[in-house]
Amino acid sequence: MDYAIQTKKISKSFGQIKAVDQVSFEVQPGTIFGFLGPNGSGKTTTIRLLLGLLEPTEGSSNVMGFDPLSEGQKVRENCGALLEHTGLYERLTALENLDFYGRVWHLSSEERKNRIKELLEKVDLYNRRDEIVKGWSRGMKQKLAVSRVMLHRPKVIFLDEPTAGLDPVASSAFRDDLLNLVQHSGVTVFLTTHNLTEAEKLCQQVGVIKNGKLIMVGSPDELKLLKRSAVTEIVGSGFTDGLITSINQLRGIESVVLQDHHLRITFTEGADSSFLVPFLVQQGVLIEEVRKGKASLEDVFLTMMEEEND
Ligand SMILES: Nc1ncnc2c1ncn2[C@@H]1O[C@H](COP(=O)(O)OP(=O)(O)OP(=O)(O)O)[C@@H](O)[C@H]1O
Ligand SMILES: [Mg+2]
Repeated sequence: MDYAIQTKKISKSFGQIKAVDQVSFEVQPGTIFGFLGPNGSGKTTTIRLLLGLLEPTEGSSNVMGFDPLSEGQKVRENCGALLEHTGLYERLTALENLDFYGRVWHLSSEERKNRIKELLEKVDLYNRRDEIVKGWSRGMKQKLAVSRVMLHRPKVIFLDEPTAGLDPVASSAFRDDLLNLVQHSGVTVFLTTHNLTEAEKLCQQVGVIKNGKLIMVGSPDELKLLKRSAVTEIVGSGFTDGLITSINQLRGIESVVLQDHHLRITFTEGADSSFLVPFLVQQGVLIEEVRKGKASLEDVFLTMMEEEND
C-alpha cells in the first residue's frame, strides 16, 4: 500500500447535482492533506464517500488499503472522524468524555489513563480535565473533540472544517495544538477548510475543489504561485523540443510543461500573455483549444477570501 488515501475518478450525484465529479488524488501516509474549496464544492461529500457513509455514483477509493464501499467497517475502525458534530457529551467532564470513548474502543483502564493524559497535555487541557464540557469555549471543545478522534490511535483522521466558527485567535491556537497532536504520531490527516491561510499553515499538500471538480493538487507554495500567475493551457500538435526551449526563453514565462498534446505555460506575476498564441501559430503549431487556467482558480480564492474576511 503506497498511499493512505487514494481516489480514482470518484463521483457522487444527488439527482441533477454532481456534488463530486471525477475526483482523483492520493494522500501520502503521515501527511496533512488539505481539501480547500468554497461552500457547496463537495468537501463533506468526499469525506462521507471515503468513510463509506455514501455510495459513489462512479469511480472508487481506497483508505489504508480498504475499499470504503465494501469494507466500510474496516475503514471506520482504522480512522477517526470529526464531522459536523463534536460527539462530546456536554454534561460530562472532559475526562469522562474521553474515558467513555476509550471504553467504546476497548482500551484497558491503564491505556485510557495514559493516552488521555498524553493527548490532553498536548492540547493544553489536562489541568482542566475535571471541568464539565458545557461551559467550555468552542475552541476548547474542538481541541477536546480532536483528542477524542485520536484516542484509539487511528491511522487516518478526517477533520471537516475543524476551525469553522472559531474566532481568529482561537483558530490560530487550535492549529498550533493540532500540529502538536498529530506531528510525530504518524497519523494521516485529511482536513477540509475554506481558509487558505489554514491550508498553508497546516498542510503539505492541498487539493482545490470547485463545483465538485478537483482543479488542482499541489504544495501550498505551488498554490501560491498559481494564485499569482496566469496559466495558459494549449491543446494542439506540432510542439517540438526546440519550440519548448524557445518558449522558455521568452519574457514573462515561469514554466513550460508538455504532456501529450497539452502544453501548460505558467506566466510570472503580471506578465503579458497575449503574444503567445500568435507566436505558436507562427511556429507551425496546430492549435485546437486554448484555456486560461487562472480564472477558475482565481474564482475559488475570491470566494474563499470573502469568507476569510468575515
Ligand atoms: N444528502 C444530500 N442530498 C442532496 N444534495 C446534497 C446532499 N449532500 C450534499 N448535497 C449537495 O452536494 C453539493 C456539495 O455539498 P457538500 O456538503 O459536499 O459541500 P461542502 O464543500 O462540504 O460545503 P460547505 O463548505 O458548505 O460545508 C451541494 O450542492 C449540496 O447541496
Ligand atoms: Mg461541508
